[in-house]
Amino acid sequence: MPGVHQYGENEIASIAQRAHESGVQAVLLFGIPKSKDEQASGAYAENGVVQNAVRQIKKRAPDLTVITDVCLCEYTSHGHCGVVRLDGEHFHVLNDESVELIAKTAVSHAAAGADLVAPSDMMDGRIGAVRATLDQAGFDQTGIMSYAAKFASVFYGPFRDAAESPPQFGDRRSYQMDPANADEALREVALDLDEGADMVMVKPALPYLDIVRRVKKRFGVPTFAYQVSGEYAMLKAAALNGWLDERACVIEALTSIRRAGADAVLTYFALDVAKWLREQS
Ligand code: PBG
Ligand code: ZN
Repeated sequence: MPGVHQYGENEIASIAQRAHESGVQAVLLFGIPKSKDEQASGAYAENGVVQNAVRQIKKRAPDLTVITDVCLCEYTSHGHCGVVRLDGEHFHVLNDESVELIAKTAVSHAAAGADLVAPSDMMDGRIGAVRATLDQAGFDQTGIMSYAAKFASVFYGPFRDAAESPPQFGDRRSYQMDPANADEALREVALDLDEGADMVMVKPALPYLDIVRRVKKRFGVPTFAYQVSGEYAMLKAAALNGWLDERACVIEALTSIRRAGADAVLTYFALDVAKWLREQS
């Protein structure tokens, strides 16, 4: 994707610092390990790529809020968000085994200094497990931003290429939600709040503004919306072709997400938007 890059452990702190200085309040980190395996061991390694990056960023920009994406898919050889058992043509994602590794990953991020951990796997019971495991390890001050309403969306395509994490077989529909089902999203949010989530996320954003609206209205909790890679790609491609005015369409899309009720938006346009907003005021 034009404008989106992978950064090495040594350059990430200066990028984050630059973002903070330009007015971005928080960053969300995703890691790509040197090697992948079936147990996703890179995800919870003490010197894993995200753990190291968090430590570097916190040294350089201690006031920047650091959120870490907690999932196994970038670290598993098969690209699924959990531990998988193959049987013949079929595969199962082993929910409880996965949740244990996800909680372990969250603790390793907290130990490195993450302010918030963001489980994005959609396994059942993971928020409760992450909360309990963090508390036991002494990280009761580390918050949880749950990807509570995450739909099985085709708009994640560019991310999977960028993060080198497309599933090698099957798809994610057994753990992510059916785009046609709005009530399920509300049930998932209720469960995650009950299990201890401090904030919830709706994902994708623009095609799911009805969900953002309903979540904010029903629960009144801090609600984030994630303008995902495919949403970025659509606007970027149109802008590069001269079909849309980039600045105007990005600001209008983000304004719509806020209008629907999102308290904050995760966006790949963050650095540009920070600059535009500064110029405006
Ligand atoms: C991993 C994860 C994904 C995204 C964020 N975390 C991909 C997926 O679920 O396939 C998508 C982000 C984007 O498209 O910008 N669980
Ligand atoms: Zn995942």
